[in-house]
Amino acid sequence: MPKYLYIETVGCQMNMLDSELVVADLRRQGYELVDSHKKADTILFNTCSVRQHAEDKVYSALGRLKHVKRDHPDKIIGVMGCMAQKDQKLIFQRAPFVDLIVGPGQLHQIPALIEKVSRGAGRQMEVSLGRKDAPLAQIKRSHESFDPLRTVEMRPTPYQAYVRIMIGCDKFCTYCIVPSVRGPEQSRPPEHVEMECRKLADEGCKEIVLLGQTVNSYRYRDDHGTTRLSDLLLRLHDVAGIERIKFVTNYPKDMTDDLLQAVRDLPKVSPYLHVPAQSGSNRMLERMKRGYTVEEYREMMARINETLVDATISSDFIVGFSGETEEDFQQTIELVEECRFKNSFIFKYSERPSTKGAELYPDDVPEEVKKRRNNELLDVQNAISDEDHIALIGRTFEVLVEGPSKTSLKQNQDGPLLQLTGRTHCDRIVVFDGNRRLIGEMLSIAIHDASGQTLFGSVVTEHVGPEVFELQT
Ligand code: 5AD
Ligand code: SF4
Repeated sequence: MPKYLYIETVGCQMNMLDSELVVADLRRQGYELVDSHKKADTILFNTCSVRQHAEDKVYSALGRLKHVKRDHPDKIIGVMGCMAQKDQKLIFQRAPFVDLIVGPGQLHQIPALIEKVSRGAGRQMEVSLGRKDAPLAQIKRSHESFDPLRTVEMRPTPYQAYVRIMIGCDKFCTYCIVPSVRGPEQSRPPEHVEMECRKLADEGCKEIVLLGQTVNSYRYRDDHGTTRLSDLLLRLHDVAGIERIKFVTNYPKDMTDDLLQAVRDLPKVSPYLHVPAQSGSNRMLERMKRGYTVEEYREMMARINETLVDATISSDFIVGFSGETEEDFQQTIELVEECRFKNSFIFKYSERPSTKGAELYPDDVPEEVKKRRNNELLDVQNAISDEDHIALIGRTFEVLVEGPSKTSLKQNQDGPLLQLTGRTHCDRIVVFDGNRRLIGEMLSIAIHDASGQTLFGSVVTEHVGPEVFELQT
C-alpha cells in the first residue's frame, strides 16, 4: 500500500533543495507525493525563520490543520527546517497536534522518525545543538549536511539541479538568524560534490546551481591543500554533459579575483553574480556588521565589471533597519542607481529574536516608513530593469528551456504547442512560443519585446537561403 506525502515549502533555494531531498528519501520508503493535505498520510512543512512573516504563514497554516488532526488522528504532521530549529518545543506548545519537529541538520532522520510516530512512540523532536551549547566540533557534528543521491524521476526537472556545496554561516550579520539555525559554516568535500554532479549529468542534467549561504566562502582543506570555489568550478567544468554552472549566494568580501577570473575563463560558468549589498550607507553596514564599507562594495563592482564584460549582478537590500534615516536610505537609492543591478530583492527589516541586532538596536523605523522605502527602492530598481531589458530587444540569447511558462500553466495549455520559459546564461527570464519537446534544450532565442522581469522572444530557426529554395523547386 503506498503512503501519501504532502509537503509545503517556504524560504530560500536551500529549503527547496532540502524538500526535494526529503521527498526523494521518503519515496524510497514507498511514499507518493500528493498535491493536497487532504489526500496525505503525512503532512510536512519546510519552514523559514529569516523574517517574521515567513513564520506567521506556517503557524497559520498549522492552525488550519487543527481540525484535520482532530478528524484524522492518524495523519502525521511534521515541521522541519529553520523554524523547527529556532522554536523547537514552542511549536508543540503553539500547535499541540504536531507530531514531529526536525531541524535542518537532522533531515536524514525523517523517515525513521515518521515510522516511530506511526508505531505509537509519541511525538518526536530532533534538532541540532545551539551555537553556545557545546565545543565547536560537537556543534558542527550536530549539523549534518543532507545530500543523498537522487534519481532523475525524483527531481522536479531532469535538466536542472541544485547542488549544495556548503552548509551554515559564520558571518553573523546582526539582523540575521541563519548562523544560529543553520549552524557553523561547513564545506562539503569537492569529490562528493563532483560525484553528485557527475551522477546528475549522467541522468541528463544540463545546469547545476551550487548552493551555499555564502557560497564564495567555500573552502575545503585536506591533505592535498585547500580547494576554493574557483578550484571547485574548474573541477566541475570538466563534467561532461553539464553545460551551465551557477552559484548563489555570494558574500561581497569574499568576491576574490581568482573567482572572477574563473567565471571569466570557464565558459560553462554563468556570468551572473548574486552579491547582496544590503545597504548603501556605511552607518547601516556597520550596524549590520556586514564587514565592508560601501566604497569597498563599489570597488568590488568595478573589479567585476572590469573582469567580466556583460555580467549581470543582482542584490538584496534590507530597508528600515534600526536607526535608518532618510539620508541612509537615499544612499541606498544612489547605490542601486549606480550599480544597475539586474534585479534586487528588497526586504523590510524584521527583528529576529536572539540576534545581535535584536539585542543591541531597537526596531525603531515605523512599519509605514519601511513600506514606503521598500516601494520607493523597488520603483528605482524596476525602472533600471525596464531600461536594461528594452536595450536587449533585437539581440539573440542562448536559452535553456525550463518548461511551460506561468501563463501557460495558468491557462492549462496542454497541447504540443505552448508558451515556454527559460533562462539566459546571465539568468534573464525569456518567454517564447514553442513545442513541448523543446523543454530541456539549449536554444537560440531572438528577443523582440521586454518588460522589467521578462524578455519575450521567438526561436531562431535555421535560415534557408533562396538558392536552396530554387534547387528544390
Ligand atoms: N529582516 C529582513 N530581511 C532579512 N534578510 C535576512 N535577515 C533579515 C531580516 N531579519 C534578507 C537579507 C538576505 C536575504 C536572504 O534576506 O537581505 O540577503
Ligand atoms: Fe545571514 Fe549574513 Fe550569513 Fe547571509 S552572510 S546568511 S545575511 S549572517
